[in-house]
Amino acid sequence: MDKFFIIGSKSLNGNVSISGSKNAALPILFMSILTEEKIKIRNIPNLTDVNIALELLEYLGAKIKHQKILYIDPSSINNFSPPYDLIKKIRASIWILAPLLTRFGKAKIFFPGGCQIGKRPIDLHIKGLIKLGATINLEKNCINASIKGRFQGKYILMKKNSVGATITIMSAAALAQGITVIDNAAQEPEIIDIANFLNTLGANIIGAGSNKIFITGVLKLKGGTHQIIPDRIETGTFLVAAAVSQGKIICHNTEPKHLKSVLVKLTEAGANINIGKNWIKLDMRGKRPKSLNIHTAPYPGFPTDMQSQFALLNTISKGVGNITETIFENRFNYVSELINMGAKIKIKKNTIVCYGIPILSSANVFCTDLRASATLVLAGCISKGVTIVNKTQHLIRGYELFHKKLNKLGADITMI
Ligand code: UD1
Repeated sequence: MDKFFIIGSKSLNGNVSISGSKNAALPILFMSILTEEKIKIRNIPNLTDVNIALELLEYLGAKIKHQKILYIDPSSINNFSPPYDLIKKIRASIWILAPLLTRFGKAKIFFPGGCQIGKRPIDLHIKGLIKLGATINLEKNCINASIKGRFQGKYILMKKNSVGATITIMSAAALAQGITVIDNAAQEPEIIDIANFLNTLGANIIGAGSNKIFITGVLKLKGGTHQIIPDRIETGTFLVAAAVSQGKIICHNTEPKHLKSVLVKLTEAGANINIGKNWIKLDMRGKRPKSLNIHTAPYPGFPTDMQSQFALLNTISKGVGNITETIFENRFNYVSELINMGAKIKIKKNTIVCYGIPILSSANVFCTDLRASATLVLAGCISKGVTIVNKTQHLIRGYELFHKKLNKLGADITMI
């Protein structure tokens, strides 16, 4: 169990380079199973979730060389039954199912793990694959699936907007017979990146990024090179780091277009924001932020993955702010930790009401999930005194070198 020892009352200032997107990289890695030709991927973030995905691919037989660029040779994959201990560690392992079915006609995987932020069912993934022709038996703790021949293209209306299920269906449809239409598809930038990756390998996907995706199945995918998009949630987290500490930051190697809803809210909080082609500058020097009212929503709405960071912003802002979580049922686990640090927060159903105070005080706090971990570390950086943040192993699942990047901005964080 890793811990951070954080000396607080710091203003975070300077330049930070944003890593590749975790949520685009993970499905893309598993989609390498769809081809037998070599793949080269740039901008892969160095994260434990990514390392687990690579371990899974190696276990299945892929040859992997990971230097600055990631090389995958999937031709030697010969196993359709990944092990429990790896599948259980990450939510993203559900995306191995459709590629294994496409390649082998059968797959047996355990139910995926990941952050405990709600029920996180997988019914939409399963229903989508069944509609495209798979036979799926849900056993006590595993999914046993098979398909005769190729997936068959179909019209699929998603009853709920799901990033994960849109990805599963897109990967099954890439090599299906006929045309698949995903209606009410998720529109996240990661979906576009995945479609671009598959199209580079020869797939025929149009409409990714809108709510209707058309996939004309092809017979074979080839190899290719792809560059993962920048991580918009890491970017947003660093912008909040500067905003809550009244600092000035420039995030480099990012994509401002992917952060519109976040930038609107930061501007409303009083930040001065400038953007360029691949950078965002935020200046909050000398200003205490104003409280915000926020509703999380599927993209292009405000991301649920930024909910806890903005709750921190509200805790130290002027006024009262309400944040309503509409995507996951159990995403306020971190609130009691912020209250331990002096925050004045009330939970009313799926809304948290924050009454802003000028400064938090230090405490011994525990991380509950990935994004909440980042929030607690930022809280430690700005609070009075020394904060111990426990269970930071969540953090390295999704943020590359987080404490080192913060230390370069003026934080004082030591890993114990
Ligand atoms: C992905 C992201 C996560 C982000 C979330 C929403 C990854 C690894 N994770 O998670 O960081 O917070 O998108 O932007 O990329 N649902 C169902 N049935 C299903 C699938 C989902 O009811 O089969 C529900 C979920 O419970 C949730 C909603 O749909 O209420 C959205 O979930 P989804 O978009 O699928 O999230 P994930 O793909 O799990």
